[in-house]
Amino acid sequence: MKTLNEIFEHTLEDMYFAENAITKALPKVAKAAKDAKLKKAAEDHLEETRGQIKKLEQVFKSIGKKAAGEKCDAIEGLIKEADGLMEEASGTALDAGLLAACQAVEHYEIARYGSLREWAKDLGHDEAHTLLSEILDQEKATNNKLTNLAVTAINKTSPSAKAA
Ligand SMILES: [Fe+2]
Repeated sequence: MKTLNEIFEHTLEDMYFAENAITKALPKVAKAAKDAKLKKAAEDHLEETRGQIKKLEQVFKSIGKKAAGEKCDAIEGLIKEADGLMEEASGTALDAGLLAACQAVEHYEIARYGSLREWAKDLGHDEAHTLLSEILDQEKATNNKLTNLAVTAINKTSPSAKAA
């Protein structure tokens, strides 16, 4: 890999793999979460993620490439951490930890889509730039939603729950 175009295409394949992995992980989060709003947030983001996969397929098409995934170690690591949490945590710790794990994924995605859309612009891939910017905005909105949920509900516990 030497050119900007090559790193762009490589990272695009990375994110195609990541979004597909996320669609498999989110139902597990929705099932494990105790808080109804957190469950709903995971379910809503699953739908949105499916839409993002379609958008990524459009991005591939717009640059004349076939949609393909390339194993992304980062997302596998983040998902593995969430899986571990579901095995080890319960009660308030589980919901707070799951929400934090979802935010770690969102931050990773925001970093990647931020780079991708700038590269698309530099490479003159206008349609890809627009689509990637749309996905980036969705990820940012999801992250904000999760922050609100954390500070207004999930992290608020009774003194006994805090101590337990
Ligand atoms: Fe996503």
